[in-house]
Amino acid sequence: TIRAADLKKVGGLATYDPGFVNTASCRSAVTFIDGDEGILEYRGYPIEQLAEHSTFLEVSYLLLNGELPTSDQLGQWTHDVTHHTFLHENIKGLMTGFRYDAHPMGMLMSSVSALSTFYPDASDIADPANRYLQTTRMIAKMPTIGAFAYRHSQGKPYVYPDNELSYCANFLSMLFKMSEPTYAADERLVKALEVLFILHADHEQNCSTNAVRSVGSSQVDPYSAVAAGIGALYGPLHGGANEAVLKMLRRIGSTDNIPGFIAGVKEGKEKLMGFGHRVYKNYDPRAKIIKKACDDVFEVTGINPLLEIALELEKIALEDEYFVSRKLYPNVDFYSGLIYEALQFPPEMFTVLFAIGRTPGWLAQWQELVVDKEQKIARPKQIYTGHRTRDFVPMGQR
Ligand code: ACO
Repeated sequence: TIRAADLKKVGGLATYDPGFVNTASCRSAVTFIDGDEGILEYRGYPIEQLAEHSTFLEVSYLLLNGELPTSDQLGQWTHDVTHHTFLHENIKGLMTGFRYDAHPMGMLMSSVSALSTFYPDASDIADPANRYLQTTRMIAKMPTIGAFAYRHSQGKPYVYPDNELSYCANFLSMLFKMSEPTYAADERLVKALEVLFILHADHEQNCSTNAVRSVGSSQVDPYSAVAAGIGALYGPLHGGANEAVLKMLRRIGSTDNIPGFIAGVKEGKEKLMGFGHRVYKNYDPRAKIIKKACDDVFEVTGINPLLEIALELEKIALEDEYFVSRKLYPNVDFYSGLIYEALQFPPEMFTVLFAIGRTPGWLAQWQELVVDKEQKIARPKQIYTGHRTRDFVPMGQR
């Protein structure tokens, strides 16, 4: 309970808004969302068009620069990112030191924060050329770190980047290339990964982006700010839902068991994972695109029987009054885990994929923050509910 006296103590007018549910923390021109209509746009371009026609690197350029690149600009950008894909050998050494069972997100977060010690020049955030260099580096190195983390957890030797390949093909090569030197990922799988990265590239002031902005507002270097974002994404309430969807589908096991499962959800025994969203009160536009991408992926990898359960589950839920009245629709996580699994990723890598996809969004928001003259250091108020002044009690009298 908040007492009137407590409110007085915050000093002037203040709102009490835990989780900033109703408080805008910044002005931003990066991403537009209309949750009621199910609209998502990056710099004004609908996500559906970007997923169909663009590439992840082109979308990264768009997010960072505000406009789609010309052919020359895209060529230069692709060249610059490709140039920075390799890691300093000592970063590799750092990663070798992690326990064999370390979570890949923990390895990613620590290694990205360690990059700030390799590039101390990153602290000069006022220089636009320097910001360009650091953002390029980070977008280039995230897949290499993610792939090394995966190989480390498998006890396999690291595979160095192949700069002849596209961004996503190179990532798949670093992950899955074994002893056969002829490994090449199927183009349809590369395209599916490209689409998934595009869909995750930004989502305005979500928890991890808010973390990047909050830490970045102290004017620290971008590696430290993005490491904070990775930490936020690591949490199960943010990045972990697609893994929970897979577990749920496995537990349901057969379409015959769906009515019993739905009855349990309606009784409040558990949630239908991959359904519902704080912002979308309509079909999450990203879920629609992923659902379509499932067909292309399963054409290559063979059908996953869990897809049949997911499709039937969605059909039943969307006709059920419980879900309709609460505006609960599939979100981005409902189908993404199925694709990641088909691409041979173990569940603990799902959030790493999310982080690689989200990196250009984090950096676009960080850049916007750095040049925004109105932006102040993040420092919310509190409503103090503890004791007021009292005298120290000597040990013998407690
Ligand atoms: N299954 C069953 N009921 C649900 C679900 C669900 N997945 N989601 C919400 N509800 C119900 C709630 O119980 C509540 O019912 P009530 O009014 O009878 O109490 C009502 O719908 C409103 O739900 P809230 O929890 O108030 O919605 P909120 O916006 O706070 O939560 C959230 C959104 C956390 C995503 C929630 O829908 C959920 O837990 N979904 C499952 C987990 C999930 O898929 N998370 C991924 C989100 S996408 C992302 O993070 C990238």
